[in-house]
Amino acid sequence: MAKVFITGGAGFVGSRVAKLFVDRGDEVFIFDTFKQYLIPDCEVTPPNLLIRLRGIMDKIELVQGDTLNKDHLRRVLNRIKPDIIIHMAALPLAFMAIEHTEDAFQSILGSTVNFLEIIRDFDHPCRFVYTSSSMTYGDFVTDPVTEDSAQSPKEIYGSFKLAGEIVCRGYMRCYKLDLAIVRPSAIYGPFDANQRVIQKFIARALSGEAIKVDGDGSMRLDFTYVDDAAQAIFLVGTHPAAKGETFNITRGEARSLKDVLDVIQKEIPELNVQYGPVPSYMPKRGTLDVTKAKTLLGYKPEYDLERGVKLYIEHLRNNPI
Ligand SMILES: NC(=O)c1ccc[n+]([C@@H]2O[C@H](COP(=O)([O-])OP(=O)(O)OC[C@H]3O[C@@H](n4cnc5c(N)ncnc54)[C@H](O)[C@@H]3O)[C@@H](O)[C@H]2O)c1
Repeated sequence: MAKVFITGGAGFVGSRVAKLFVDRGDEVFIFDTFKQYLIPDCEVTPPNLLIRLRGIMDKIELVQGDTLNKDHLRRVLNRIKPDIIIHMAALPLAFMAIEHTEDAFQSILGSTVNFLEIIRDFDHPCRFVYTSSSMTYGDFVTDPVTEDSAQSPKEIYGSFKLAGEIVCRGYMRCYKLDLAIVRPSAIYGPFDANQRVIQKFIARALSGEAIKVDGDGSMRLDFTYVDDAAQAIFLVGTHPAAKGETFNITRGEARSLKDVLDVIQKEIPELNVQYGPVPSYMPKRGTLDVTKAKTLLGYKPEYDLERGVKLYIEHLRNNPI
């Protein structure tokens, strides 16, 4: 049984990762500020995001804390002595990082440096998983991109995520840390409160409101159902072969916004779609090659867009987020 410390473990993706470790019988510690970056939706009353931890609350230890409070973080880590740290806490939205640059800088880079400074002094082995992003690639120069493709972020969030990767690798080489990096992209599914594209499309389709599309619908993203992303992060946290490695973790197949609308329309026929400009900060993306995660770790993504969106619609028909 491992001791697993998950920052952002009360969040959309982190809570699903936590469930996998609980299911394996590990001792799970969730460290989270319970921060909601977007203004809570008044229709969602109360916005109780702890609903994400339903079913595992009595099997985890929940620590309220901020990864930027290094003294508190150090005390908690020295008490727990985790075998695995999954670091997911961060400002998670690229468009917010443009306005809240200091928040993005601190929560992405500052918190990561705090961890590295603390774990370099550990006297026990510990796997540290840093959550990066496909935004570190900027405009994809090849389709698909592999982990070795050029990284040239074109906005703030991707720049800080890339800086975090570089710092992680520097510490890893300097202090021989057991470290791994994941690059997820466009995760969707139940209990995301961050109003990402598929959530917005389905919510508006269900309410009959206009669906606003960035561009003409041809934009392609490697949409990844949350359980697939969680499976991959769990594998990176636990598999010996992940040590020192970086992994794309997505479905491994880019689909267009038009495809998403077509899938939604099969379940909700009446759609009111409006097309608009693409935000200038948005990179041109596509497929992330996940061969490395499949080959080295046995990662098996199980949800294509058709299956994932259908499940998500069923969920959102009965739940506010
Ligand atoms: N969801 C995606 O499509 C996606 C894609 C690429 C990368 N990521 C990364 O995955 C991670 C999780 O994303 P998510 O979608 O689950 O977001 P989320 O907002 O649902 O979860 C983030 C969690 O981190 C917590 N948190 C934020 N700052 C904190 C701090 N300083 N100290 C402690 N806790 C803090 C929040 O309270 C929240 O519970 C983030 O690092 C994000 O950048 C997400």
